[in-house]
Amino acid sequence: MSSFKNYDNLSEIVALCKGRGFVFQSSEIYGGLNSCWDYGPLGSLLKRNVKELWWKEMTRRRDVVGIDASILMHPKTWEASGHLDGFTDPLVDCKSCKTRFREDHAPLNDAGEKTCPSCKSTDLTETRNFNLMFKTNMGPVAGEGSEVFLRPETAQGIFVNFDNVRGSTRKKIPFGIAQIGKSFRNEITPGNFIFRTREFEQMEMQYFVTPGEDEKWFEFWKRERFDFLINKTGLRKENIRWEEHGSGELAHYAKAAFDVEFKFPFWLGELEGVHNRSDFDLKQHQEFSGKKLEYFDEVKKEKYIPFVIETAIGADRLTLAVICDGMVKEHDAEGKEVRNLFKVAPEIAPYKAAFLPLSKKEPLLETAHKLFDELSENFSVDYDESGSIGKRYRRQDEIGTPFCVTVDFETAEDGKVTVRHRDYMTQQRVSMERLDQFIEEGLKDFKDFGG
Ligand code: GAP
Repeated sequence: MSSFKNYDNLSEIVALCKGRGFVFQSSEIYGGLNSCWDYGPLGSLLKRNVKELWWKEMTRRRDVVGIDASILMHPKTWEASGHLDGFTDPLVDCKSCKTRFREDHAPLNDAGEKTCPSCKSTDLTETRNFNLMFKTNMGPVAGEGSEVFLRPETAQGIFVNFDNVRGSTRKKIPFGIAQIGKSFRNEITPGNFIFRTREFEQMEMQYFVTPGEDEKWFEFWKRERFDFLINKTGLRKENIRWEEHGSGELAHYAKAAFDVEFKFPFWLGELEGVHNRSDFDLKQHQEFSGKKLEYFDEVKKEKYIPFVIETAIGADRLTLAVICDGMVKEHDAEGKEVRNLFKVAPEIAPYKAAFLPLSKKEPLLETAHKLFDELSENFSVDYDESGSIGKRYRRQDEIGTPFCVTVDFETAEDGKVTVRHRDYMTQQRVSMERLDQFIEEGLKDFKDFGG
């Protein structure tokens, strides 16, 4: 029996991600830009698949539709939402070494005084609230009136479109609006690779419900989201858990909030939030815009502002969780390390199959190229002709490719190729004509990916 060991050191994961083409430091040739990362060939496929999986899950339902709102919004949005006043961190500056840090992260000295985390000085400025929104100017003239913000959450693009979506789709409550998009926060302490960055992607859904039914729907979405994380993205159950926000930790808009926490190598960190936002946001936008955002309930024959249950997860953070959960070292029964493996759910694996001609001689190359072209119509597939077949299998194991397809000298005679399974390492001869169907069915049946 094999056993699997995860990497418990984030720097190893960062190095693997770079070496295998998942994630690179942004602007690396210039020394890098703090907290900004670029997804490479493998990482961009993985993240795209993660987003697609979420999008399918959330929008292929009768009661949820999707939108794609702009990043820049009318500045009044942020007054109404409370972000202009409330989206702040308390900061202090060290007068000695000029380091700026969060007041609540300042270590205390033996006398119980706050100290600078860099130089230990107690000579600190007063605490000031620092707004986390990025500001920029719209149009050629900078100054008052042209200031806009990069959105710190995608949710507000949904709230301001509530009535447009309801009217154009004729959706009746309860219904939801889902969105995937970039958000920006000038985080004071970004870090831990792609866990906390200043530019990131969110996948959020706002579900509009009748007041009084909010608690029922809150429980419903908690169940749905947990099920998705385990059964669709394949995260191992022992690596995730619920954590409730205490009343002192609730965001300014929230009536109740639960986080799904994932066991990252550095700490147990928030992965997804499910929030009961009450009628806070729609009420605020109604007040600040002067436009009615009430819903007329034809069954109850009454008007009300709906309550909102929100599910919010970062695409980058989920991608990191998938990587930390799935990248393992496999050991055999004697404890010897056999290989590095990315045990990722096949639906989000960057490549579904790889074509590996056993030799660079014809007709093997031509056949492998032809199969690659045919299968890439339906799947994202890879091609590799360099190095020994063993090494090529290992390279595909490391990036999570569920099936390796070897074209050999017998292929020309029997019209068959050898298909190797990533997790079991078993091999099977499959007719080229049936390959497409074999892979499609194999992906559906692919059970042993960790979940
Ligand atoms: N609309 C609600 C909202 O934005 P949040 O808990 O602040 O709630 C939701 O963010 C999710 O977005 C988090 O659970 C996390 O997955 C992701 N997220 C938030 N800030 C992030 C950051 N700086 N870097 C990467 N992901 C972040």
